[in-house]
Amino acid sequence: MGNPLRTAQDRRLPRIPEPCALVIFGVTGDLSRKKLIPAVYDLANRGLLPPGFVVVGFARPDWGDGDFESLAYAAAKKGARTPWREDVWQRLNSQFHFIPGSFDDDAAFDNLAATLDELKERNGITGNAAFYFSIPPAAFPLVLNQLNRTGMADSAKSGGWRRVVVEKPFGHDYQSAVQLNELVDDVFIPQDVFRIDHYLGKETVQNIMALRFANSLFEPVWNSKYVDSVQITMAEDVGIGTRAAFYDASGAARDVLQNHLLQLLALVGMEEPTSFDPQEVRAEKLKVLKAISLPADIATGSVRGQYLPGWVAGERAPGYLEEANIPPDSRTETYAAVRLGIQNRRWAGVPFYVRVGKRMPRRVTEIAILFKQAPHLPFDPADVEMLGNNQLVIRVQPDEGVVLKFGSKVPGTSMEVRDIAMDFQYGEAFTESSPEAYERLVLDVLIGDRTLFPDAAEVEQSWRVIDPLEAAWAGTTPEPYRAGEWGPRASDELLAREGRAWRRA
Ligand code: BG6
Repeated sequence: MGNPLRTAQDRRLPRIPEPCALVIFGVTGDLSRKKLIPAVYDLANRGLLPPGFVVVGFARPDWGDGDFESLAYAAAKKGARTPWREDVWQRLNSQFHFIPGSFDDDAAFDNLAATLDELKERNGITGNAAFYFSIPPAAFPLVLNQLNRTGMADSAKSGGWRRVVVEKPFGHDYQSAVQLNELVDDVFIPQDVFRIDHYLGKETVQNIMALRFANSLFEPVWNSKYVDSVQITMAEDVGIGTRAAFYDASGAARDVLQNHLLQLLALVGMEEPTSFDPQEVRAEKLKVLKAISLPADIATGSVRGQYLPGWVAGERAPGYLEEANIPPDSRTETYAAVRLGIQNRRWAGVPFYVRVGKRMPRRVTEIAILFKQAPHLPFDPADVEMLGNNQLVIRVQPDEGVVLKFGSKVPGTSMEVRDIAMDFQYGEAFTESSPEAYERLVLDVLIGDRTLFPDAAEVEQSWRVIDPLEAAWAGTTPEPYRAGEWGPRASDELLAREGRAWRRA
């Protein structure tokens, strides 16, 4: 019997998964090196991994065992957020296995299955394994079929749990997402499928629910009676890096609007769930996603852009068409802005302006709730010139925190009112630093907690929002903007036509 004084709610007890294997397909790729391997190291360093935990990396045959070891070491050291401890790494490293093979190589998958069987006894993982798809979406069906063929996806046969983790983009439109969901559901049961949207792993994103539902201050004004508009911004100073092939086929809307931004919108717009049970939270988010409306005229209610050469933070940046491996006549957007609505009683009439872009002046993701102006201002117009809308700004990253902006009297003999800011910063308010999103999500997969993972219906519904946009944009040329600018001029005009302006993020 367990210790009756220790309960699952006891915060002193870290949540630690059962002994298990994490199998990473595409282990030598970008995501694995930048995020997954460092996350595993940080989890090990925090003592959150179970005894007997193993990582099995699967990648192209030209990666030898030794090469893989040095790649993993360099990746962990570069990406680790917790202090470097050689002994932790050595212990972890001794639990790394590398299986070379291509996805159509039956022998390599048989080898993987045999390795997992062997580890069952040797490491006491009792057949528990999570399969992480850090691979191009086109390869999903091949790998799923291999997992099926070898029986590796079968938890009953393996004697433990078997889970699959699928990275975004989940499909490239509604139809392909439905097909992919069917394929995944043929091989795994829905409870064992974890679709990653790493924004949900961010501390500041989870805090949206805490801010709204743990406090009584904000909820009464969180509706169309008090809110003028909402602006959601995801700006990146970087370009497309080494992902030309993927990015050029996707564009900004498919890359991040369909997933990260619509998830943020759902969290801001949703009703209070009855509990934080995954089903309850997903049901509320899904209702919002279903109530999203696109502009009546997509051509005037949205803007797509593509960056020209320019300067970002004092450094020359090439234009999108000059980036390596981008076709010189590409019409892919690197910027997208759209005016969305949520057609329910809480939000009808409130525009949700959503924008995302690469090569913007700086990296910032934020959600700004702009409140209506006070109806009666007994002030001289000259005294309130510097008073804007009251604003609640959730700063997702960087400088994580929340800012409340409101007017205050300027000291002196006149009644002049000016905007001031009350600022909560994570770095100042808490001594604990926030775990990296992938650290949290990898841990949740291994524990089997699905709260922070969108389900099939959410993903499909999000594509239903994006598909008409893509259809309207097909064949159009994106508006140019210079690298280092806040998007094309047309995006300022989009708001100006409605008497508004983008917040200076
Ligand atoms: C990814 C996108 O999902 O998110 C990238 O594919 C983008 O294009 C990245 O750069 C941004 O993530 P973060 O956590 O740095 O905001």
